[in-house]
Amino acid sequence: MAEEVRKLLTEKEVDERIRTLGEQISSDYAGQSVHLVCVLKGAVFFMCELAKRITVPVTMDFMCVSSYGSSTKSSGVVKMVKDLDEPLRGKNVIIVEDIVDSGRTLSYLIKMLGDREPASIRLCTLLDKPERRVTDVKVDYTGFEIPDEFVVGYGLDYDQRYRNLPYIGVVEFTKESGIN
Ligand code: IMP
Ligand code: MG
Repeated sequence: MAEEVRKLLTEKEVDERIRTLGEQISSDYAGQSVHLVCVLKGAVFFMCELAKRITVPVTMDFMCVSSYGSSTKSSGVVKMVKDLDEPLRGKNVIIVEDIVDSGRTLSYLIKMLGDREPASIRLCTLLDKPERRVTDVKVDYTGFEIPDEFVVGYGLDYDQRYRNLPYIGVVEFTKESGIN
């Protein structure tokens, strides 16, 4: 099987949407500061672009959880791979995710990080696949709702590849074009 990537959202569409999300967050948190928590690795491109568009004071931290092997379906098991470096106590935390699929990763994270006594905790995701939701999670900021298709680019991977694409695309599997 060979793969092809079909463009779903252009670089311009993604960048414009991130700019709008940044403006919205800046106005919602006017007079305060925000502590962005990046869920590695997928959210890293999104969080960097978003942080550049936020005009209130920003601090950042990074964590890594894994719920996927190399397949395209959620295993339902969330494992902590790398914890945050700093405490969350008293901070206005925004968890920044690449995509909400089943919702299992985020519901686990909200509970775990919520226990660390932040002043507030909100969720921001670049992409949301609402059709696939298994666990109910309230997302405060969403870039785009997309159909139930496996997407890559802008940080999202398929088996660790394609993260560097500057747009969002859908992976399509095609029969190998016969090389003989
Ligand atoms: P959830 O726990 O099922 O919501 O899965 C969330 C995580 O699964 C995301 O943070 C991604 O790392 C990964 N994921 C879900 N859907 C996709 C996709 O379409 N492309 C790439 N990764 C995905
Ligand atoms: Mg992720």
